Amino acid sequence: MSDYWVVIASYLIGSIPFSYLVARYGKGIDIRRLGSGNVGTTNVWRNAGPAAGIIALAGDAGKGLLAVELAHCFGGPLLVCLSAMAVLAGHSWPVFLGFKGGKLIATGLGVIIALSLPVAVLAFAVWLLVVGISRYVSAGSILAAVSVPFLMLAFHLEGPYLAVGAFVAVFAVYKHIPNIKRLVAGTEPRISLKKDLRR
Ligand code: G3P
Repeated sequence: MSDYWVVIASYLIGSIPFSYLVARYGKGIDIRRLGSGNVGTTNVWRNAGPAAGIIALAGDAGKGLLAVELAHCFGGPLLVCLSAMAVLAGHSWPVFLGFKGGKLIATGLGVIIALSLPVAVLAFAVWLLVVGISRYVSAGSILAAVSVPFLMLAFHLEGPYLAVGAFVAVFAVYKHIPNIKRLVAGTEPRISLKKDLRR
């Protein structure tokens, strides 16, 4: 029981807003006021360029991975899974940024890498496939997140692990509601190979 401080630590680690910090101190912009307004990799990439986007991705995924590995050092599956949910909650509702954070995808990737590399690789493959075909990052993120609990079942990850997968799927969809509305309305921006990837 005494090791449950790791859950609080995970929430605080998740609350470190790497996407905001990279854009703010790397490019002097407030990512919350540009593009989709999301404090996440895609919006940093879109407004601050690929290098800033990759750094934001590394920071946001890295904190997910770090929290789960920290929990692995101190406890069993329950502590690991509570810490995984805590770091995701910190990323999406960060205490250091007025509880307005990202959409769970980059940090979710880090968490899932730490829980099960095959699930992470296959979920990323889903993301690549959907984004490759549709050129909607949000559609790729939503379908990749929804695939996580099913992939976990396929790899016999059950109990608290499956709860983390369900957490990722449910809250990623919830956080993407504005994107879903734009997708339905046909106003969601597609990524452009020319503009977004080659600058
Ligand atoms: O990971 C977030 C992505 O799926 C959508 O980002 O900025 O287009 O709302 P954005």
